[in-house]
Amino acid sequence: MKNHGLIALQNVFKTYQLGESTIHAINSVSLAIEKGEFVAVIGPSGSGKSTLMHICSLLDNPSSGTITFEGVDTTNFSEEQLAHIRNQKVGFVFQQFNLLPRTSALENVQLPLLYTDITRHERQQRARDMLAGVGLGDRLNNTPSQLSGGQQQRVAIARALINNPEVIFADEPTGNLDTKSGREIMDLMTDLHREGKTIVLVTHESEVAAFAKRIISMRDGKIVSDRKDGKKVHLKNKGGGR
Ligand SMILES: Nc1ncnc2c1ncn2[C@@H]1O[C@H](COP(=O)(O)OP(=O)(O)OP(=O)(O)O)[C@@H](O)[C@H]1O
Ligand SMILES: [Mg+2]
Repeated sequence: MKNHGLIALQNVFKTYQLGESTIHAINSVSLAIEKGEFVAVIGPSGSGKSTLMHICSLLDNPSSGTITFEGVDTTNFSEEQLAHIRNQKVGFVFQQFNLLPRTSALENVQLPLLYTDITRHERQQRARDMLAGVGLGDRLNNTPSQLSGGQQQRVAIARALINNPEVIFADEPTGNLDTKSGREIMDLMTDLHREGKTIVLVTHESEVAAFAKRIISMRDGKIVSDRKDGKKVHLKNKGGGR
């Protein structure tokens, strides 16, 4: 089972039709991400980084190609099955933080647990623990506008972690932060990686990418370079072999 990787894309395309023109946001991408990896996706604006993240995290469907998650082909999954994986196995962090305004850090972090059968008491306890884990144990009742950008992003990371996901996807998590706050977020990502979480993040800053162990470069919807610890990454199991 191990060699399947956590997430594998096989010959994936994502195509948009805009009037007469066809945009290949993702153009024939095959890729495997193993459990515990720390991956940075880099590339120019419009090269398909966000689209790739959305497809890897099952937020978006490919136009063609297959995505396997923990070795299971998701092609014929129902929306409900996909939502289940997203809720249980995946955490997201966005450039714009995407926190609810006028809502405390404690409540923001609990959001992913609202529609589960976890009790209110347990939800609060977990949210408190998560916020303490990102260094915000003393800011539980602050709303986003009462927090700095870096603190808001830490709330967003605590929210992404509350379901104890297998993998964290972060799309330009430091894009709206000053250098010092960005560095704090990357130190936090590094800690999560050390604790065994799989991390996939998009960045256009080389200083941020340098925290990752593997760097995937995209251009025009294709992967143009994929290096781990400085060495080329080769796709195992090509052609669906087990
Ligand atoms: N919903 C959509 N409809 C049409 N085209 C889209 C849509 N979403 C993305 N695209 C196009 O797909 C291509 C890849 O977009 P994507 O957002 O993945 O790029 P990106 O690498 O994340 O760029 P940036 O660094 O600016 O965030 C772009 O040409 C974009 O215009
Ligand atoms: Mg993007």
